[in-house]
Amino acid sequence: MTGPLSELIRSKRCILVCGGGGVGKTTISASLAIAAARIRSRVLVLTIDPSHRLLQAFGYPDALLHSGGEPLELSSAVKEALQVPASAGLSIAVLNPRYVIDGIVDQTLSPSKAGNLRKTVLYREMTQMIHGLQEYTAYEWVTRMISEDRYDLIVLDTPPAFHAKEFFNAPGKIRNLMESRVFQIFLPKTGSWFRSMISFSWIEKLLGEGLFRESVLFFETFFSLRDRILARCQDLAAFFKSETVGVVAVGTPELAATHELEGLAGFLREKKIPLRAIVINQVEMPDVGRWEEEVPPELPSGFPDKLKQLAEHHQARSERSLAVLERLRQGYSGLPVVAVPMSYSADGFVILRNNSITLI
Ligand SMILES: Nc1ncnc2c1ncn2[C@@H]1O[C@H](COP(=O)(O)OP(=O)(O)O)[C@@H](O)[C@H]1O
Ligand SMILES: [Mg+2]
Repeated sequence: MTGPLSELIRSKRCILVCGGGGVGKTTISASLAIAAARIRSRVLVLTIDPSHRLLQAFGYPDALLHSGGEPLELSSAVKEALQVPASAGLSIAVLNPRYVIDGIVDQTLSPSKAGNLRKTVLYREMTQMIHGLQEYTAYEWVTRMISEDRYDLIVLDTPPAFHAKEFFNAPGKIRNLMESRVFQIFLPKTGSWFRSMISFSWIEKLLGEGLFRESVLFFETFFSLRDRILARCQDLAAFFKSETVGVVAVGTPELAATHELEGLAGFLREKKIPLRAIVINQVEMPDVGRWEEEVPPELPSGFPDKLKQLAEHHQARSERSLAVLERLRQGYSGLPVVAVPMSYSADGFVILRNNSITLI
């Protein structure tokens, strides 16, 4: 196996798959993990918000989505269908931010404080409320797995976001929030000067007495976690650039998706985060046959014309896709730009298996 991504798969501890929404990050992450399991013995794909089809392809029961987030080792039957040797360890885990945060809280706070924090509405809503927290939990999870040396390689599928670069902005976003006035308002010690400047009864009226008290409790308790999270945000920023991590950007030949991809590549360059490969997914391959000879003469009149239109449409899409690929290959010379074909199979196994062969 000496394809464009095989070196990456062989040498990294973590492959971070990023890109715009719906381009196929989760599918490509799973395909990369399958490819990797043929070379390395303990591979895990950590996926976020996986499609139903992907879970089915992996034989992963939906119920596990809502459980603790412990990885599930794929069965021999699934590995066989994916052409992964039975001896290889290939696991899948679905990120559950709540589970990760609970772990941090238990490590950092006393049981009574942790219990109080968990009771607040803000805590329950926290992963939705704090932008960047989901990304942060993915990082916490991956680094824990690496430090425990449970896997040779972890393929990390990044969470769905409006912009692909949001994953890399997560540490900054969290830092901004932790240092923001929201925290200062509610904190008794550090924010006292600020606190004295605003009318508390006003906030209390707005939130209602119960929610206000809860908010104070939440922020006071959460403050004990702040230093740990801030320090880890610093590590997270360094993690993106480290030699153990390989960033792979995924796009499609669609105009909006290529713009997003190029924006992401530029952003990474600015941030000095090395991009190791580009994957262009859902490429229409020029596979139109000699249709004229194959159309049976007994077809209703007009039907062959419709078929011809369809074939021409496909051909045009294919040509556009290949032109996009060519342009990217020229623009990013030195970087592997890999094309993954659009698959029309209804069988998830077939898509993943084919992708995994294309990728390396
Ligand atoms: N190469 C492909 N051929 C056909 N369908 C694909 C391909 N890659 C992804 N898909 C489909 O596109 C949809 C979005 O893919 P997904 O991996 O969930 O994207 P993302 O994680 O970027 O949101 C899914 O239904 C998936 O099965
Ligand atoms: Mg996804």
